[in-house]
Amino acid sequence: VQPGQTKKVKWRGKPIFIRHRTDAEIQAAREVETATLPDPEDDAARVQEGKEKWLVMIGVCTHLGCIPLVDAGEHEGGYFCPCHGSHYDTSGRIRKGPAPKNLEVPEYAFLSDTKIKIG
Ligand code: FES
Repeated sequence: VQPGQTKKVKWRGKPIFIRHRTDAEIQAAREVETATLPDPEDDAARVQEGKEKWLVMIGVCTHLGCIPLVDAGEHEGGYFCPCHGSHYDTSGRIRKGPAPKNLEVPEYAFLSDTKIKIG
């Protein structure tokens, strides 16, 4: 998975987005004042320490469950749910639209530099 690419896999019937974030995407996620977000969460709390370039999320919109588009919406390298217009940033946090929560980060662990185990 190259920088700026997202791999999609299925886990327990749900889509999982595994994003190799670019430095610019990480920077954009960290520049935001967390307290101003609809669902305030630091980018650092959504990734693993030392593995900040990897963003692993359940690709299900927290509004009514559509699958958001990758690399779409108002945030470059972010996610957009066209069903009712929810924009998520490069950390998968809701920034605009009806979705109440950030895209969910599942439990996962790195088994090696190139392999993760979800759940
Ligand atoms: Fe995503 Fe409504 S289901 S915005």
